[in-house]
Amino acid sequence: MKAIDLSVEIAGLKFRNPVIPAAGPPVRNGEAILKCAKGGAGAIVTKTISVKAAEVPRPCMAKTKSGFLNTELWSELPPEQWIEREYRIARTTKLPLIISLGYTAEQIAELAPKVKPYADALELSTHYLGSDTKPMENAIKAAKETGLPVIIKLSPNVPDIKLFARAAVSAGADAITAVNSFGPTFGVDIETGMPYMGSKEFYGWLSGSAIKPIALRCVYDIVRTVNVPVIGVGGVESGNDAVEFIMTGAHAVGVCTAAILQGPKVFGKIAGEIAEFMARKGYSTVDEMRGLALKHIQKLEFRTYPVPPKIDEEKCIGCGLCAMSCPYQALNIVEKVARVNIEKCFGCGLCMSRCREVGVNAIRF
Ligand SMILES: Cc1cc2nc3c(=O)[nH]c(=O)nc-3n(C[C@H](O)[C@H](O)[C@H](O)COP(=O)(O)O)c2cc1C
Repeated sequence: MKAIDLSVEIAGLKFRNPVIPAAGPPVRNGEAILKCAKGGAGAIVTKTISVKAAEVPRPCMAKTKSGFLNTELWSELPPEQWIEREYRIARTTKLPLIISLGYTAEQIAELAPKVKPYADALELSTHYLGSDTKPMENAIKAAKETGLPVIIKLSPNVPDIKLFARAAVSAGADAITAVNSFGPTFGVDIETGMPYMGSKEFYGWLSGSAIKPIALRCVYDIVRTVNVPVIGVGGVESGNDAVEFIMTGAHAVGVCTAAILQGPKVFGKIAGEIAEFMARKGYSTVDEMRGLALKHIQKLEFRTYPVPPKIDEEKCIGCGLCAMSCPYQALNIVEKVARVNIEKCFGCGLCMSRCREVGVNAIRF
């Protein structure tokens, strides 16, 4: 069996594996950061700080059926405490330390020199910078004054993420993190009739698996537009999710919601699952998988005629999930095996994804 190397390099920093925390509660102070390192994170990204401690509305987090809501802002700890205490503790992990800062150029110019002694790179949040690229560009230029690598974290809420990616790289960004939480959104706890979030307008920002397709689309757009490493963030909770981001072109993945819900061991769990996938598919480095989807896309023909699926009769367990959800009634279970009626099949592809849901993989196109 080939040896598996999970290490990746981003902006000159070597990560032991591509699974890192995304800024949020799992990296809210020094002690929490130690737990992420112990839990197997490949590098550390710290909770965003700004020039003042945040006054966080409460309640500020809710797990709902359709996704995770938060209205947490940036760190509730003052920057002085991070500089005097939390970053020192974080440094003891010996992992690459990416310090997240927000937001305007003036705030970054004030904070960046103070955190520089502890940072291997800076990540800048653009969450409150609006839909014009200029404030982001100025923030990047202010951060670049430190001489540290600068990673810009983009929001999925901007009208054209390609425009932001281009502007960020022109302003000097060395890498891009995509994306922050999606919103605004709203939700009500029907047991009490109360809104989940305690923010001024009762809005929350959505994260977790609900935003994964949005995050993947953003990564896809960015990697087609600029040539810097991308850290994919949004709904990563398993090795398969991480591989999907890597095949879309990401160098690494950030995890926040899954680390809140499952605890800091999730980093090592996801890294282990990536390694298992690589072993199964015969990959020995993460680089070998990166951008595989983009290579396929270049060769794919646009087609509007149906190609019916092929059923692997050996693998099919006759569960009937494909037949139940086929909108064209083109699938039937006959003698415990799925059969396709080619006359009826629209070639929509749904059956393949349903089969994959139960881990059987008996349907191919
Ligand atoms: C409770 C909470 C707090 C967050 N705080 C920050 C933050 O301080 N800075 C930041 O850049 N992103 C912050 N985020 C966004 C996450 O880093 C991440 O981009 C987003 O949640 C999507 O990833 P996920 O689906 O793995 O959570 C926060 C997210 C959550 C859920």
